[in-house]
Amino acid sequence: MSSLHVVVLAAGQGSRMKSLQPKVLHAVAGKPMLHHVIDTARALGAAGIHGVIGHGAEQVQQATPAADVTWALQEQQLGTGHAVAQALPAIPDDARVLVLYGDVPLIKADTLQRLVSQVSDHSLALLTVTLDNPDGYGRIVRAEDGAVVAIVEQKDASPEQLRITEVNTGILAVNARLLKSWLPQLGNNNAQGEYYLTDVIAMAAAHEVAIQVAQPDTGFEVQGVNNRVQLAELERWYQRQQAQRLMLEGATLADPERVDVRGQVTVGADVYIDVNAVFEGEVTLADGVSIGPGCVIRNARLGSGTRVHAHSVIDGASVGRDAQIGPFARLRPGTQLADRTKIGNFVETKQAVVGAGSKINHLSYVGDATLGTEVNVGAGTITCNYDGVNKYQTRLGDGSFIGSNTALVAPVSVGERAVVGAGSTVTRDVEAEELAVARSRQRNIQHWQRPEKQS
Ligand code: UD1
Ligand code: CA
Repeated sequence: MSSLHVVVLAAGQGSRMKSLQPKVLHAVAGKPMLHHVIDTARALGAAGIHGVIGHGAEQVQQATPAADVTWALQEQQLGTGHAVAQALPAIPDDARVLVLYGDVPLIKADTLQRLVSQVSDHSLALLTVTLDNPDGYGRIVRAEDGAVVAIVEQKDASPEQLRITEVNTGILAVNARLLKSWLPQLGNNNAQGEYYLTDVIAMAAAHEVAIQVAQPDTGFEVQGVNNRVQLAELERWYQRQQAQRLMLEGATLADPERVDVRGQVTVGADVYIDVNAVFEGEVTLADGVSIGPGCVIRNARLGSGTRVHAHSVIDGASVGRDAQIGPFARLRPGTQLADRTKIGNFVETKQAVVGAGSKINHLSYVGDATLGTEVNVGAGTITCNYDGVNKYQTRLGDGSFIGSNTALVAPVSVGERAVVGAGSTVTRDVEAEELAVARSRQRNIQHWQRPEKQS
């Protein structure tokens, strides 16, 4: 089988987005539309991916640091046929070429596989769709015997052709050698004065190259984005698909319309996800994990039975089994919580390794710290890990107990089963089983005269 080269058209301006950003960089599910298409091309095992760029070319390239993408600059947008021609010099003659669009982000690899498998030296494959309202699209013209003979653009169509409801998605696959012979022959004598890629269909028909047709599973796959309303429609469709997948894999969603997946989420059995959870990056939720309402969870692994309560933010953390997090907790990158840990409200952790059964229940900051097992960190405890230049480590031994409102001035360590009295500012190490009290002794002054209001 000859190699597959994918050409992604992304040179258009997208003026209806009313944006300073090139259209193809607008995101669906947190990822630029163009990147969805490039990822799909990769999933097809493309030997080459060719991005045709023009408007905002530099911005598009900068936002797409992909070593496997070859860029072709289309300085003037003279039409889709002209656009594909810009990529052809970099494509070997014996390749199959698949044309995709940077603003048609949700096309599925399965559908394209079906399409591409129909391409040979003597056949071209076209993805079409039948629409109730075909307005604006190129119409698929078929002969009496049903064979496709041409595509006619809306603006060039006769009243009779305008009644055709089968339309061109724009996506097609064809042999590179054929394309290389046909594209130079395209003219622009049409209503838009453009070099239409779609004119190759009539050329194929004239050269007895068979035109095979495939259809996507749903219209959303081939829906393009011209404005932000259409962008939002695709976003919702995508999110509904994600929600369905999660449910079929064993998660209960409080409301499938109120969950957002902007990355890869893997769920075990009996996961529960309350409303307005947002997932980003790679997230793994083991069996029985429960996510409260309004949580944001990014690049995290949560062990089985762990519960995340309302409005917690987790980023770059791994959590063991049966932990309790939140409400209103913030786990920052490098947080590793062992089994049965508890992180309560208004607690922030960063680069913190917390041993099994340890608790940080209220109003604390624990950064650059290693906690043993069964440590109890009292309310309002702060690791002073930063002197304005460097970061330092705090170590709390197994079973140690840190009284409320303690400042642990790093580098500092507290030994196993040691106790720190509430309100201490700990600047020296505390050995195992010691009590450290580092605050001024309380004085009580008798018969204290309270100040009086001066008249
Ligand atoms: C095109 C098809 C039409 C199809 C429709 C599906 C042609 C002539 N027509 O029409 O049959 O029904 O798509 O949406 O192909 N682009 C470039 N450079 C150019 C021109 C376009 O990169 O010089 C890119 C655009 O950025 C856009 C895509 O190609 O992403 C399609 O171009 P557009 O002008 O929107 O084509 P349509 O008129 O929609
Ligand atoms: Ca279009």
